[in-house]
Parts: sequence; structure tokens; C-alpha cells
Amino acid sequence: MSVVSVINYKGGVGKTTLTANIGAELAARGRKVLLIDLDPQASLTYSFYLPADFDEQPTIRAWFEAFVATRAPESLFRYVLAPHTVNAIVQPLGGHLHLIASQLGLVDVDLDLAAGLGGSRFQRSSPRYLQVYRLLADALADPSFAGYDTVLIDCPPNFNLVTRTALVASDYVVVPARPDYLSTLGIDLLRNRLSRLVEEYNEVAEHPINPEVAGVVYTMVQYTASGPLVSQRNSVEETTRIEMPVFRQTIRDNKTAVTEAGQRAVPAVLAPQGSAAVETLRYELQQLTSELLARTRL
Ligand SMILES: Nc1ncnc2c1ncn2[C@@H]1O[C@H](COP(=O)(O)OP(=O)(O)O)[C@@H](O)[C@H]1O
Ligand SMILES: [Mg+2]
Repeated sequence: MSVVSVINYKGGVGKTTLTANIGAELAARGRKVLLIDLDPQASLTYSFYLPADFDEQPTIRAWFEAFVATRAPESLFRYVLAPHTVNAIVQPLGGHLHLIASQLGLVDVDLDLAAGLGGSRFQRSSPRYLQVYRLLADALADPSFAGYDTVLIDCPPNFNLVTRTALVASDYVVVPARPDYLSTLGIDLLRNRLSRLVEEYNEVAEHPINPEVAGVVYTMVQYTASGPLVSQRNSVEETTRIEMPVFRQTIRDNKTAVTEAGQRAVPAVLAPQGSAAVETLRYELQQLTSELLARTRL
């Protein structure tokens, strides 16, 4: 089982769209996929459920809160859901797609977890540092999760403790970004924070972690008749210059397709045959998934 975190400090860069679609495409290729929604915005959760169909389902917020209250992690497997609409499509193809959902109140969990470690400054000297940082890693190491091939985690747009538990659990990191100058700075910052987290963690941990950056995926790329805008090409070159791997496949700005596909509880990659815009988006997402498989040992 491989774990991939999809992360960027910025919101609105396509993290959730990519997590949902790569997960759905892998399941359509016959894989057993688990998606984890760690963003309190819960957009990943609502990529698979219409709001009316999602009441009173367990979410990862309750799992974290139970840990904060008791200091003993409960089984995470209890929180796994099997969204119906998407599985009706992928199960005949030999795969399945499960989801651990999120909800708004998850935002408070970060503060409670940090408080349990004596605040943000002295975390590493806390005897509970490893237990907290390894919460998700240890939960996923439980044999009940052994049936999954791939776990994709949709991270919130921050570097707080909940996000750190995802990174500690990850084999790979995928960074969706828009091709502009500020985003390039953000990517550099993210890379530095990730290196520092790994360094600090490995100083105290028995078994070192080494999450590998699979690459930056440029999303919402704007095309003119002669290809991507020049300013956007420059951003991609700049990313390569700072020695971040970049996916060759980009996802173009495609409001038509996203709107058309967004009506159902199924990601665009599994939408019924549609307009040219929908087919373009589907093709890009499929190519991106193939490239991810080629770049990693997923
Ligand atoms: N390729 C695209 N073209 C146009 N709009 C997109 C594209 N990908 C995502 N979007 C839209 O942009 C918004 C942000 O995307 P989302 O995946 O939710 O980003 P994040 O998870 O990083 O906040 C959503 O409304 C989504 O539907
Ligand atoms: Mg999101």
C-alpha cells in the first residue's frame, strides 16, 4: 500500500479536483483506493456525496477528537465509507473507491492536538510527539487497511499538525499549483517546510521517514492558439530551476468541463461521454494518472 499526500499552502489550486479524479481513475483501472479528506472544507467528501445524501455519517473529525479526549487512538477503519454512485461505476471494472470523510469542525482539532503537545514551540521535547505525529501513519498500518493499493490524502491549505500527520504517513507528495510567480514562491516554501519536518522528525524517530515529492502538477493552465501563455511557461521553467520535479502533463483551465461534470457525485474522469471540453479534461486526468504511476512505485 502506498500513501500519497496532495498538498499546497494555497486553496483553489485544484488539490481536491486532482485527489478525486486520480483516485477515481485508479479505481477504474482496477485498484483498491482509499481517499482521506483532511480539509475542514470537506470538498472531497462532497465530490462523492450530494449534500442531501450525507447526513450523520462518521467523519475523521470524530476520530481525532476521540484521540484528543482519551489519548488512545481508536480504529480508523470504522470511519471508512463506500460512496455508492462512484462504486457502481468502478466495481464492475474490478476496483473500489472508499472514503474517509471530513467536516467543518476539523479545524479545531489542530489547536487541540498542538495544545496536547504543550503548544507549538516545544513539540519535539514532548513525550507524546511521536504518538501525535504518527497518528495517521500508525492507524493506516493496521491490518484492516492492508486491502488497499493506494491511499490519497487531500490536505488542507496549511502546515498544521493534521497536515503533518498526513506527511509523516506519506510515501509521496503531489503538489498542484497554478502557473504564476507567487505560486512558485509558495512551492519553494512548502518544499523547505517539508524538509524541515522530515529532518526534525527523523532526529527523534526510530524509523526515518522519507516522503518523496512526485512533482508539481500545473492546473488551470490558460491556453491561447499558440499554446500556454508565455508568463505561465516562465513559471514552469522557474519551478524546474529551483529543482522541483514537474509533471509533463498539465491540466488546462476548463470551467465548462468542471461545471458540466460537477453536477453528479462522480469525478469528471468518470463522467458520461460529453462535450469536447469534458473529453479534454478526462484525457488530461488520465494522462496525469499514468504519469504519476510511471514516476512512482504506486
Ligand atoms: N482545470 C480546471 N479548470 C477550471 N476550474 C477548475 C479546474 N480544476 C478545478 N477547478 C475549480 O476550481 C475550484 C478550486 O478547485 P479545488 O480542486 O477545490 O482546489 P483546492 O482543493 O486546491 O482548494 C473549484 O471550484 C473547482 O471546481
Ligand atoms: Mg480542496
